Amino acid sequence: MIEDKRIDLNKLPKHVTIIMDGNGRWAKNKGEHRIFGHQSGVKSVRECTEAAAELGIKYLTLYAFSTENWMRPKEEVDALMELLVETILDETPTLNKNNIRLQAIGNLKSLPKKCIAQLQQAIDETRKNNGLTLVLALSYSAKWEIIEAVKKIAADVKENKLNIEQINEQIFDDALSTQNIPHPELLIRTSGEQRISNFLLWQIAYTELYFTETLWPDFNRQAFFDAIVDYQNRERRFGKISEQLTS
Ligand code: FPP
Repeated sequence: MIEDKRIDLNKLPKHVTIIMDGNGRWAKNKGEHRIFGHQSGVKSVRECTEAAAELGIKYLTLYAFSTENWMRPKEEVDALMELLVETILDETPTLNKNNIRLQAIGNLKSLPKKCIAQLQQAIDETRKNNGLTLVLALSYSAKWEIIEAVKKIAADVKENKLNIEQINEQIFDDALSTQNIPHPELLIRTSGEQRISNFLLWQIAYTELYFTETLWPDFNRQAFFDAIVDYQNRERRFGKISEQLTS
């Protein structure tokens, strides 16, 4: 049951993506260690995933660990990897119960073996679900993804599978790790920072951006609904003028 009557269920985005930010500051404000902030952020992951699934949104992509995050202190990186493994293990039955399919994008090979194994198991166990697809971006950066796509396309040209003239937006889309996932209509970033931080650069060409001061561990079901309502009140013109949209 969706309690927020402001939401128009006929005007939902198909794909929402979130840059989850502010765990460290949230913990610091409470005089706690940064890792406590990440642990507390799991509740927000759960609430947003449930809210998206209940609304009938088809894709939710979460920026959980960027390529740049490897440069954080080892203790924090290890704790984040451990938290990922634990959360994926704990949440897989709930994902299945709610018909949610898990996918992952990023340089997954660079993750610790235990993390890859747990992730792969959860992806396999939820493969047949056809409600929400929850995509975790792990060891992900958009520049890395774009370079990988260019390499794939160049290899196809070299092997005469593709002519240079045939390269178009569709070919490029298909070479990205988000192949088969529609581009997001809405990107949310928490914690007051207003930047994209190397996330889905190609895919967000026409995405609506929503920035909120709320720190990630405080971003709850209602905050997610507020972002959807804000999105629904925007006019998406894709370069056209208002009058062309109504005619
Ligand atoms: C950004 O906050 C958050 C992260 C780098 C990690 C996000 C991870 C989780 C919420 C936990 C597990 C997630 C899943 C999907 C199971 P920050 O540390 O950059 O905060 P700060 O900017 O305040 O320092």
